Amino acid sequence: MTRFAHGVSALRSSEIRDLMSLATSPDIISFSGGMPGNELFPLDRIDNIYRSLTEKEKQVAMQYGPTNGLPTLLESLSQYLEKKGLPVGKNRLMMTTGSLQAINILAKAFVDPGDTVLVETPSFIGALSAFRSYEANLVSLPLRGDGIDTDALRTVLNSAGPRPKFLYFAPNFHNPAGIIYSEEVKRRMIDLLRDQDIPLIEDDVYSDLYFYEEDVPKMTNIKTMDPEGIDVCFTGSFSKILHGCLFAQLFTGDSR
Ligand SMILES: Cc1ncc(COP(=O)(O)O)c(C=O)c1O
Repeated sequence: MTRFAHGVSALRSSEIRDLMSLATSPDIISFSGGMPGNELFPLDRIDNIYRSLTEKEKQVAMQYGPTNGLPTLLESLSQYLEKKGLPVGKNRLMMTTGSLQAINILAKAFVDPGDTVLVETPSFIGALSAFRSYEANLVSLPLRGDGIDTDALRTVLNSAGPRPKFLYFAPNFHNPAGIIYSEEVKRRMIDLLRDQDIPLIEDDVYSDLYFYEEDVPKMTNIKTMDPEGIDVCFTGSFSKILHGCLFAQLFTGDSR
């Protein structure tokens, strides 16, 4: 019989696969996957941008490049992140196909079989599957209306159990809970995690998709609240917000 790796055989049939096969069915308007409407993709603008490129630029776009990403793309990305208050130099950035690939890479970098990883309950199933595939021992922290239960976090940190490798959380328009973390909860997390050598993985794929201006200040990224005190791996995505202007900027490295 074919023998798969431990981590993979521990995986259940993918919930995401089941969910996406329903969500992409043409007669269903699905709210379960975080997918943009097809009609919102700026096809004409993308065609125009592609046509406006020189032959050389097109060749560069198709060719292999540096493994952490095309320098011009990284430069655009750092400008985008700086607008969010995240001052990241090129050497701290990496292009991935999306947030989930970044989460996978981080899991690979941090998790040895049996390691403790702190997650919210409920949590984004894609991230949970990634952590399980590296045989992490997931320890759940309940989610309240304003973020994780910080009393539960304190209890875990003070317990004699194994030291967690990191805490994964999705603070903005949480999937699936829909909540936004309050500033107060994030401050308490910073206080509890300072000097603990337990990095945070902050998965922020939805903060650009807001309806109400008053929600914007709440979505301040945690690293900007305490730049020196805590270690944060920030993962983001353009899969939800692709629009012509941004695409042009990323593709060509300028703001055409
Ligand atoms: C919280 C969260 N993180 C990550 C992702 C995946 O993002 P990407 O498509 O960029 O990999 C999703 C949904 O698709 C999500 O809801």
